[in-house]
Amino acid sequence: MLNASLNRKLRMALIGGGGAGFIGKVHRTAAQLDGRAELVAGAFSSSMDRSRETALAFGVDPARAYASWEEMLVTEAARPDDERVDFVSIATPNFLHFPMAKASLAAGFNVLCDKPMTTNTADAETLVRLVEETGAVFALTHNYTGYPMVRQAREMIAADELGEIRAVRANYVQGWMWAVDPTQPAERGTWKDDPRRNGPGATIGDVGTHAYNLARYMSGLQPAEVLGKLTTFSGRQLDDYGHALVRCLNDALIMVTVSQVTHGRLNDLSIEIDGDKASLSWRQEEPDSLTIRQTGQPQRIYDRAPGQAHMNDSGNAACRIPGGHPEAFFEAFANVYSSAYDDMIWRVVGGDRDPRSTIYPNVYDGLEGVRFIEQTIASSKANSVWLPLAAR
Ligand SMILES: NC(=O)c1ccc[n+]([C@@H]2O[C@H](COP(=O)([O-])OP(=O)(O)OC[C@H]3O[C@@H](n4cnc5c(N)ncnc54)[C@H](O)[C@@H]3O)[C@@H](O)[C@H]2O)c1
Repeated sequence: MLNASLNRKLRMALIGGGGAGFIGKVHRTAAQLDGRAELVAGAFSSSMDRSRETALAFGVDPARAYASWEEMLVTEAARPDDERVDFVSIATPNFLHFPMAKASLAAGFNVLCDKPMTTNTADAETLVRLVEETGAVFALTHNYTGYPMVRQAREMIAADELGEIRAVRANYVQGWMWAVDPTQPAERGTWKDDPRRNGPGATIGDVGTHAYNLARYMSGLQPAEVLGKLTTFSGRQLDDYGHALVRCLNDALIMVTVSQVTHGRLNDLSIEIDGDKASLSWRQEEPDSLTIRQTGQPQRIYDRAPGQAHMNDSGNAACRIPGGHPEAFFEAFANVYSSAYDDMIWRVVGGDRDPRSTIYPNVYDGLEGVRFIEQTIASSKANSVWLPLAAR
């Protein structure tokens, strides 16, 4: 956390999270976990009653609950300096991210947006331009980048502890699709199999972008091209299983495997990174432990244990409580928020910021994620040819 301070909490507006909505509730909790921000306004649903109900449940003044995000942005932007929100969080179906983020930036707000950033590259490029023009902070909630042992591993790789990175295997495997009864209305997420509201890639966009972002974030590898093979085993319209093989500029290979049709798997995001000195592995279902391996040596398990000799600065800084008391999803999500807050404060107090190189996933990562989805789908449709991916 920076020493610079605004001497007040940042003010948050949330779009989404009403009714059965899942991730909006996580945003609400994570954003306020460290007492650095307060949720003061929201368009929690497109129904006024539901938005107001949610405001009450979230401890927000119902006078600042809106049924329309457009109305919320106009009204909140017109408030005096000591009331106006500092940032807008977007936790709605994919096709709404772009108009909501674009309008939030245009209204002068910082933005935290869920993934995938947009449903096509042209819109993602527009957001990059707007962030560059406005100087706003834009964070994308690839929340797995907030786990202490992920940040620890990233610093270890940057410090050459694994040597040159040769290969990454990033898998995000779920099985919930077998539990969906297509004859029953879904409680949430009906938009996920509708290309108009979800975008062109389902599983590759939903969990594949997380796995790809994590591989890029931890390894620092720069992508050159991708070869994809996506398929559908459950009978849904869009993909539910597949592979994307990315060749990097140094000829390292990243293999991303995604599934939402693997019986019994919950949120099995795992990553293995091979360097020419050592390899490491990490799983989000056991997030407090990181395994390091070297041929001829016993494997080393690094526990999340802040302050102990094996922990580096990035790992320590991402911890809140002593090792052995599990930290997990909410805390990692909150770390993305907290890193974005540092930048928001820095922006106000006038410090130098490099928006391309942030500890939290940013608008450029968002663009990369959308390109990854589009090019993987295009490759798969063209019988798995190699297609270019732009490096940063
Ligand atoms: N970062 C993560 O780990 C993670 C996890 C799950 C979902 N997501 C992403 O978060 C987004 C939402 O996913 P979800 O699973 O919460 O979906 P969901 O279907 O459970 O919830 C969608 C929410 O959006 C709200 N909403 C819809 N239209 C709206 C409008 N016009 N104005 C205001 N609110 C509106 C609904 O009321 C609901 O609360 C998606 O983009 C998804 O990819 C991210």
